[in-house]
Amino acid sequence: MNQPKILLLGPPGAGKGTQSKKLADHFDVDHVTTGDALRANKDMETEHGTPREYMDAGELVPDPVVNEIVEAALTEADGFVLDGYPRNLSQAEYLDGITDLDAVITLEVSRGELVERLTGRRVCEECGANFHVEFDQPETPGVCDECGGALIQRDDDNEETVRERLRVFDENTQPVIDFYDEQGELVRVDGERTPDEVFEALQAAIEP
Ligand code: AP5
Repeated sequence: MNQPKILLLGPPGAGKGTQSKKLADHFDVDHVTTGDALRANKDMETEHGTPREYMDAGELVPDPVVNEIVEAALTEADGFVLDGYPRNLSQAEYLDGITDLDAVITLEVSRGELVERLTGRRVCEECGANFHVEFDQPETPGVCDECGGALIQRDDDNEETVRERLRVFDENTQPVIDFYDEQGELVRVDGERTPDEVFEALQAAIEP
């Protein structure tokens, strides 16, 4: 298969960002992530307000804003790993109209582990690399191994917002996973193993 088009689904904290970066490097395709794109434009004025108003509350940013980001990114890509989209059935329908997918995979992780991963996550404010206060510690506390930048906690990684993000996932995004499952396209991968083990399972699912 050349230049695969991969959709990676799963709840907040399942490891989509961690694994998407590795997959994009491995398959030499673009990493298309609505979360990063929105964080880079958090204070952009749109007719629906700014992305920040939704993100800091753990709510979904309105569909027209994210659909536009995804369509522009996918039009420019030969192959991709799509991470963070679609998050509701209307986005899934939109995606269906603009591209075909080669693999649809969901990462499965228990609820308690998700909360621990997200509340303990630290990200580099310079390069965006991910760490965890317990599971993936940097060599020097508070300093990014990759670029030396400062590690910070994301505005939406406090416990209250994490719980709201998980509720929004159950209500809006779980039906998307069920939809791909009913189409017979979905591969389930146990995300509750080490990052390297999860990566191996993803690779095996994409190039059987
Ligand atoms: P987004 O940035 O997409 O966040 P998310 O889906 O909530 O996912 P996360 O980035 O929090 O988690 P992840 O699965 O990528 O996990 P990670 O690899 O970092 O969205 C943020 C907000 O933007 C949304 O709430 C919404 O407002 C808005 N938005 C985005 N897309 C949208 C859309 N399409 N429509 C509308 N609104 C949208 O891992 C988490 C932690 O766990 C890290 O610390 C990591 O080091 C650790 N970890 C990873 N893997 C493992 C492992 N195997 N074992 C132990 N620890 C691990």
